Amino acid sequence: MQIADPWQKAIATRHFVAKWREGTLAPSTHNSVLSDHPARPERPELWSPGKMPKRRFGNSQGRASLIHAIAHIEMTAIDLALDMTARFAEQVLAETGFDTCSQFITDWLRVADDEARHFNLLSKRLSAMGLAYGDLPAHSGLWDIATRTMDDVLARLALAPLVMEARGLDVTPGMIEKFRKHGDNANADALSVIYEDEIDHVAIGAKWFRLIAEKRGENPVAHFRDLVMNRFPGGLKPPFNHDARFKAGFGREFYENLCP
Ligand SMILES: [Fe+2]
Ligand SMILES: [Fe+2]
Repeated sequence: MQIADPWQKAIATRHFVAKWREGTLAPSTHNSVLSDHPARPERPELWSPGKMPKRRFGNSQGRASLIHAIAHIEMTAIDLALDMTARFAEQVLAETGFDTCSQFITDWLRVADDEARHFNLLSKRLSAMGLAYGDLPAHSGLWDIATRTMDDVLARLALAPLVMEARGLDVTPGMIEKFRKHGDNANADALSVIYEDEIDHVAIGAKWFRLIAEKRGENPVAHFRDLVMNRFPGGLKPPFNHDARFKAGFGREFYENLCP
């Protein structure tokens, strides 16, 4: 099933995760083929990263456009978490066994549920500012990480939670501080909720990366570094939020000095 409407997607995701947690998911009656491209609404218009306007904190439109951009990230993050589960659970089952596979599904559905909650939270913030998701253009490049890593669960874990979501941990505290500096506490509070949850998402990514790499007989640190160098041109640039990354169980040995 594909849902293009972002609000419906968030509702359906939360409903699906609740059913998984209750153990009351109805067995699937048809074999659907997993698409490599999630359904997208007609709006927002998707622009290439270079075309996106610079956002300024000094005025309310600038802050609203930043919240709109993060809402778009959250919507794509729902797709990423659901795709992690649907695309890779069988690979994890083959490599690690039944019990771990069901834990893998539970973990990534929890992430999907959080992302849907984050999208709803920012949607409410946008409507308080007189906007709706879709009213402004959004960045077209976010799904690229998924398309570059369709072949391997470790590549996906490296690039989605451990590169992109960990990058979110680096930049979010600075954004929260800027919102507060401009007296915008409602948006700062919303981002603080998201920030705390995102530490968990990086932790879940780090946990599965280690476990699967070790099952394959790979050194997790060396393998992560190889994957980033081969699949993430440009590498990882400081400054890093070492405290949050450490809290997520993602030590400096993984990500420091990883710029080509
Ligand atoms: Fe999120
Ligand atoms: Fe996340």
